[in-house]
Parts: sequence; structure tokens; C-alpha cells
Amino acid sequence: MTTLYEGAYAKLNLTLDVLGKRKDGYHDLQSVMQTISIRDDVEIDIGTGKEWKLLCSMEGIPTDRRNLAMKAAAVYCDALGKDPGGLEIRIHKRIPSGAGMGGGSADAAAVLRALNRHYGEPLSLPALAELGAQVGSDVPFCTICGTAMVEGRGERLRKLPDMPDCVFVVCKPEFSVSTPELYQKIDTAAIPVRPDNRAMESALLAGDLEAVARQVYNVFDPVVTAEHLELNYIKSICNSYGSLAQQMTGSGSAVFAILPSFEYAAVVCNMLKENYPQVYIAKPV
Ligand code: C5P
Repeated sequence: MTTLYEGAYAKLNLTLDVLGKRKDGYHDLQSVMQTISIRDDVEIDIGTGKEWKLLCSMEGIPTDRRNLAMKAAAVYCDALGKDPGGLEIRIHKRIPSGAGMGGGSADAAAVLRALNRHYGEPLSLPALAELGAQVGSDVPFCTICGTAMVEGRGERLRKLPDMPDCVFVVCKPEFSVSTPELYQKIDTAAIPVRPDNRAMESALLAGDLEAVARQVYNVFDPVVTAEHLELNYIKSICNSYGSLAQQMTGSGSAVFAILPSFEYAAVVCNMLKENYPQVYIAKPV
């Protein structure tokens, strides 16, 4: 039996635009995504000689084949005709769930990278990311990590220059949002403001953190904030203590703030901790 270890990094949407509904029911997106140092640890035992099994340190996460990590293992083995001879996946969870931080997708991507490494890298990273699209919309990006422009359903990726050095504070309020319901809602709502992804790309190219911060925008943010005014409270605390930008990530409900240094981040973190147990400090990775 062999044990594989892989880190699964959370993502933030620096920008997120929903362009329209597709014939397959999904939506075409344009999003600049960033992985951060909040990480699950994924361990995989290969060749257990038993039925496939998944263990997760966090309660409330499905441990059957609905779990994206299990699905990823199945998709990889099917696509490459591999039989691992029994497999056990253990996930040590740190990424909050129902947050818009791609926790399940990150785990799935980690499984894809680990299995691909184990079998001698038969797939290139872009080919592995393409395979990830069969598992979930955020899996392709979570496979390649870093900073990227993500388009289509989430399967079209283009690497962008690294995010300039900064510190993120992420705050996960208690409530969660149903992603399919939110997409339905945005179908009927007008989108008055959209991110300028070209300007975001230029800001990244210039390595200008303040310009990057000015372009942070998620079209889902006002839709969720209208029903959960506490997001404004979180954002106002961030803003009062030196945050350059504050915005919801993905379909929420976590809000992230961009700070110029750890000192600023620590102050924002302490202020939020008074009311929220789930507050994190992270770096771009
Ligand atoms: O692919 P994934 O399972 O992450 O998507 C979750 C849900 O989010 C989908 O069932 C769909 O309702 C919605 N979605 C969408 N368009 C996308 C990504 C997700 O409509 N590009």
C-alpha cells in the first residue's frame, strides 16, 4: 500500500461576472480567481484491497460518491483505465464549507494531482484540469492554482501574473447560500454593475496592488447582500481598518478583504473575531 499526500488550496474570486445562461443549464462566467494559503490536507491510501472509502474531519460533508474528491478519483481512474486496487481518501478540512471558497473542488483537484503523480504524470497539468471539468466547475482552476482568468463554465483557463504581495482576511458568516438558487436569481435580475476584467488583468500585469483592489467586484455580492445585510457590516469593519477592497467570494457567503500587510490584517481579524468565529488570515499562493 502507498500513501499519497497533497495540499488542497482554497480559492477566492477577485472578480466574478455571469455572462449568460447556456443551453446546458450552466452559466458562462468570466472570473479572475486566486488560490490562497487556507488549505485542506488530502491523504490517499492506494491498494487497500478494500472498497473505496472517504473520511473527513469535518461533520456534515458527504463521504460517499457525492463527495467531489471521490468523484475525482473515479473520473481519473475511468479516463486512464487504472485500477488502484482499493482506495481510502482522508481529508483534514480547514476550508470552511458553504463559503464560496471552492473547498470541495480543491479536494477533488488535490486527488487528481496526487493520482496523476502516482501514475507517473501521464497527463499534463492542462489535461488534468480539463478532466477536472467533469467533476465540477471550479475543479479545473483548483487543479492549476495561482492567479488565472477563468471562462466558459469554468473549464477555460488562462494563467495571469501572480497577485502582488498582500494579505487576505476571510470571514465566513454563519449563513450559507444555495449556489443553484443564486444562479436562478441572477437570471431574473438586471446586473447593473460588472467587473472590468481587462482592467483587472492590466493591474495584475503592472503588479499594482491598489489598482488590483480597485477592480475587485463580484456580481453575486449585491444579490446576496440585499438579503443578508450583515455582509455590509463585515465589509464596513474591513474598510474602517485599512482594507483596500472587500467583497464576497463566489456564491458566498464568505467575504474577503485585501490588506497591504500582516499588521493591518491582524487588526481587521481581531475586530471581526469579536462577532464571528470563522475568521482567517491567508496569503496568495
Ligand atoms: O459545477 P458545480 O457543481 O460546481 O456547480 C454547482 C451549481 O452551480 C450548478 O448545478 C449550477 O446550478 C450552478 N453553476 C452554473 N454555471 C456555472 C457554474 C455553476 O449555473 N458556470
